[in-house]
Amino acid sequence: MNTAHEHWGSRLGFILATAGSAVGLGNIWKFPYITGENGGAAFIIIYLGIVFTIGLSAMLAEITIGRIAQTDAIHAFRKIGKPGWSFVGVMGVITAVIILSFYSVVAGWCIAYVVKSAGGAFSGMDAEAIAGAFGTFVSSPLSPIVYHGIFAALTMAVVVAGVGGGIEKTSKVLMPLLFVMLIALAVRSVTLPGASKGLEFFLAPDFSAISAGTVMAALGQAFFSLSLGSAALLTYGSYVDKKTNLGKSVVQITFLDTLVAILAGLAILPAVFAFGMDPAAGPGLTFVTLPTVFNAMPGGYLFAIVFFVLLTIAALTSSISLLETVVSFFNNIGLSRRNATVGSGLLVFLLGIPSSLSVGIWSDIHFIKGQGFLDSASWMTDKLLLPVGGLLICVFTGWIIAPVAAKEVLGDGEPGILTRAWFIILRFVAPVAILLIILSGLEIIKF
Ligand code: PHE
Repeated sequence: MNTAHEHWGSRLGFILATAGSAVGLGNIWKFPYITGENGGAAFIIIYLGIVFTIGLSAMLAEITIGRIAQTDAIHAFRKIGKPGWSFVGVMGVITAVIILSFYSVVAGWCIAYVVKSAGGAFSGMDAEAIAGAFGTFVSSPLSPIVYHGIFAALTMAVVVAGVGGGIEKTSKVLMPLLFVMLIALAVRSVTLPGASKGLEFFLAPDFSAISAGTVMAALGQAFFSLSLGSAALLTYGSYVDKKTNLGKSVVQITFLDTLVAILAGLAILPAVFAFGMDPAAGPGLTFVTLPTVFNAMPGGYLFAIVFFVLLTIAALTSSISLLETVVSFFNNIGLSRRNATVGSGLLVFLLGIPSSLSVGIWSDIHFIKGQGFLDSASWMTDKLLLPVGGLLICVFTGWIIAPVAAKEVLGDGEPGILTRAWFIILRFVAPVAILLIILSGLEIIKF
């Protein structure tokens, strides 16, 4: 074991790196289309309710376990005295590898779209032609894999430089940049003629659109977006010094993650309405609908490039947290950071190849529920591994290490109403709610 566990240089560095992990494709690619598919404002209200109760509590739990243990996810559970629980860490690290493998493929598409937008590849095309171009690109055997490799290499370059020198420094530059770009895009979008219909969809709730399925969608999205349940937060928590106020930090991180999701919705949905496109276009909203919107928008050439750069940056600050989760473990069993990074980076790159091919020449090979490799990997992490990981983290903190966890969060302070609420959520509310998402995701129960 390495005796010197690394630490963040400052509290701000910790907040920005962790917000960087949370803010990603989940906020900018998924959140707007899931909101679009689930009726807009009413979905957002439910999402906010879940994020600031269950989401925030589970995030505080995961980060707290990390800070108590001051080691990687797999050693953490053993070190805080419960060896039988190390499988939660093992599952977390495996989940991180799986997510990263397909996340890097989609992030590779984002880099490709920076290049394509800058080269004017979509100029003059209508929606159908853009959809065709997207299909041709993602299904080609080589080029998406090359972009996936470029993205994986970028992720490795940051992680190899270490916690303070790589991850923290990069997050401190990229996160403010991301905010500036996103605000510029949101302002552009809401000031387009015809944007008001989109704003209304986004801000005026229609509660008749809410069903149990909407609540489940909001819970699943909250988990993915907050990076909960894959041990990435635990790993980042292990680099926090003992002076940092965890409760306050977690509120700030959750707030930033939510702000970015809302801004992304504001940047995307009003523009989609202004040009008469379908807000419920699903995953294609980013790669097909938006380039069409940019084509029709004054200044669209520049805004397209800004948007895809933004998406790549958001994905990078998330992927480094996933890779770090794996590297931290290998580092602790004796590999140098360099070897651990190169080894796990290569593994993730290789695992991503079938994901990439599954949208093209391997599209006939099916795994879970008739889905290809990429969709199966995403299904398995979204519907099973992340919620199960999150559930176990809540149960572990709420039932097994409660006194130690309370002391870690409170210091010498007395437990107040917030601490009590935290434990009620960890012990009862979150396990029941998460169990429901898992059972409904697996279609064992139907709403
Ligand atoms: N939170 C990231 C996003 O919104 C994805 C992620 C999930 C990152 C789990 C780390 C761990 O894109």
